[in-house]
Amino acid sequence: MALDVTDHAAVIAFCAERDIALVVIGPEAPLVDGLSDALRAAHVPVFGPSQAAAQLEGSKGFTKDLCARAGIPTAGYVRTASLADARAALARFQPPYVLKADGLAAGKGVVIAETLADAEEALADMFGGGFGGAGAQVVIEEFMQGEEASFFALTDGTAIVPFGSAQDHKRVDDGDVGPNTGGMGAYSPAPVLTPELQARVMAEIIEPTVRTMREEGNPYQGVLFAGLMLTAEGPKLIEYNARFGDPECQVLMMRLENDLVAIMLACAKGELAGTEVALRDQTALTVVMAAKGYPGTPDKGGAIALNDAEADGAKVFHAGTALKDGALVANGGRVLNVTATGASVTEAQAKAYAAVDRITFPSGFCRRDIGWREVAREAST
Ligand code: AMP
Ligand code: GLY
Repeated sequence: MALDVTDHAAVIAFCAERDIALVVIGPEAPLVDGLSDALRAAHVPVFGPSQAAAQLEGSKGFTKDLCARAGIPTAGYVRTASLADARAALARFQPPYVLKADGLAAGKGVVIAETLADAEEALADMFGGGFGGAGAQVVIEEFMQGEEASFFALTDGTAIVPFGSAQDHKRVDDGDVGPNTGGMGAYSPAPVLTPELQARVMAEIIEPTVRTMREEGNPYQGVLFAGLMLTAEGPKLIEYNARFGDPECQVLMMRLENDLVAIMLACAKGELAGTEVALRDQTALTVVMAAKGYPGTPDKGGAIALNDAEADGAKVFHAGTALKDGALVANGGRVLNVTATGASVTEAQAKAYAAVDRITFPSGFCRRDIGWREVAREAST
């Protein structure tokens, strides 16, 4: 049955009819739209933050202001609501200029401008409605230098349980070039985020965030996904997501030993304290197979044959597929997540690409270098 998730009353009625014991809200839009508040008010257990707490993803300015209040390491910034103020503020920054539409923009709200002229043009576009309502306010940030990695934690608003690390590949083409995408592949764990760095991320970023949100009356419940820049001064927050991340979720789930429902219910009920998340000591790596045209307009409807892709223990997650007259076809930008595990990134990568190579998908493509940073480090040790 198709359910319109923007119709909160319909979702609540559905949950009552089917006696639903837990709702897990995956994407950011229904979180920012307050679906979790509506369900909680109807006494339906929900995994996912309230509308107020989902601002950590829904408003870049909200998160930057929170970092400033709580002393959380992040890029210096200015938050402005007018083009004139934004243009004036540019003088306080060096190129490259990092400009962000405040609201949700499906991963497209960030512009990195090399020159002042490009920065002014991007600001005019943001304030001119180029990003819809998301651009009513703009954050201008200092450019941070370093390697990016992601860190995940579950929280019920008070207790916090680390959920491991991952590294995504945002650019569409090999070698990290071309336009940004939602993510073309990921692996977990990300060894660049050493145990020492993870301890710093917990102490300097995650814990003060959860504490400050709670103290300010917006307890955050669900998964916190911290996008980090590992700078020479230490890890700094780039942004938060209020969800597991795609394709980070796929690699984290491949490693999870716990019963996922039990830990999500513990979060939903405020009973997370004492829970431990056990992740297999293996690397999981996923390669996104996308439809040609992505991240622009994808070529929909192309035939896919999975063949024996899962024969050697690989797992193919479907992201944008459909069945047409009983046959599998592409039905979105990112179509499949071909995922494998191994003792190292190198081994997981080899297994994932062996599975990719078994799949027939003429109108699709993928990057061939997912995990390259870590594969290079493994080769040099
Ligand atoms: P975001 O949507 O905030 O994650 O930004 C998208 C991408 O832009 C990030 O993954 C980084 O590669 C880059 N980025 C964002 N903010 C900064 C910054 N302050 N310095 C350098 N790169 C950044
Ligand atoms: N892969 C990045 C995200 O889900 O936001």
